[in-house]
Amino acid sequence: MAPVKPSLFILGIESSCDDTSASVIHNERILSNIVANQEVHRKYGGVVPELASRSHQEHIVPVVEAALSQANIRKDQLSAIAYTRGPGLLGSLLVGTSFAKGLSLSLGIPLMDVHHMHAHIMAHWIKDSNSVGHSKTPTFPFLCLTVSGGHTQIVRVKEPLSFEVLGETIDDAAGEAFDKLAKMLGLSYPGGPEIDKLASTGNIHAYEFPKPNLPGYQFSFSGLKTSVLYFLQKQLKSDPDFLKNNTNDICASFQHTVVNILVNTLERAARENNINCVGVAGGVSANSYLRKRLEEIAKENNYQLHIPKLEYCTDNAAMIAITGYYKFLKKDFVGQEVSATAKWGM
Ligand code: KG4
Ligand code: ZN
Repeated sequence: MAPVKPSLFILGIESSCDDTSASVIHNERILSNIVANQEVHRKYGGVVPELASRSHQEHIVPVVEAALSQANIRKDQLSAIAYTRGPGLLGSLLVGTSFAKGLSLSLGIPLMDVHHMHAHIMAHWIKDSNSVGHSKTPTFPFLCLTVSGGHTQIVRVKEPLSFEVLGETIDDAAGEAFDKLAKMLGLSYPGGPEIDKLASTGNIHAYEFPKPNLPGYQFSFSGLKTSVLYFLQKQLKSDPDFLKNNTNDICASFQHTVVNILVNTLERAARENNINCVGVAGGVSANSYLRKRLEEIAKENNYQLHIPKLEYCTDNAAMIAITGYYKFLKKDFVGQEVSATAKWGM
């Protein structure tokens, strides 16, 4: 007889950067996923750490209450709490970590510390009201391109919670590259979604930007950023309206370059490691052109392709809760002494 699955209600809490989020899951199924964005950073063109932690402090109680209420769950029905321990901004992490610790202590239920990038990948195992059965979750080994504001990696997943980084960026992350170009173009923060929108009506072949040639599955985006900066400075000298008249083409050509670097590396890693189940995770996986190119290479190579729903691509607590669920099954709990960790390797 198959072992009876436990019936677990897990609260996930995410506060690593500028989104305060709480989610309740029942086993793998999401009951709620509340995200409070912080508009305060927009006018500064990037996240201001001190303002982010203050804002988490204001949002955390109402966001957790909203997640419980939407899930129709009382606190005393929770089985455990999972929280993002790192990596991220320390002041932001401290808010979620302290709240999770306090709540677990007062309710007398286990606590699980979650690595933010593991959680982005584990988002593939989330089930929501629209998903049916297990057929939509990846098979193993699973090769995941993780692309966020702080990370760009190729990760081999051998089983749930077992991650091996095959390659990563040696400088900027892909999301950071989008955000920096947006700043050069005078667009608002975060830049990725803005560039994505403008690029949709631009010409991907208008400008040619350099692609790095790195060993293994490494990435680099800082050379690309510098070359775009010099290119723009040069154009603006002869035509002060260059930016105004060519924003869409610049965005499309830049996005085409970044996406090709990502997709070509993933394709090569899949081929060389003989893996045909591939996917993408992290904020940049919301990019429409990346999603389109992934569909194309999946068709060409006959991959089983997994792309999370948009709400599970950018920062959210549902991914923390699902990671907590798998940690609970392994009884992988932490005590009150574990503290927030700003820099935390995979
Ligand atoms: O995973 P995430 O929400 O936070 C981190 O863990 O960093 O990723 C945020 C990053 C930002 O750099 C943002 O510009 C980028 O994801 N991003 C996008 C898009 N949506 C978010 N980049 C390109 N296209 C998008 N549609
Ligand atoms: Zn993230």
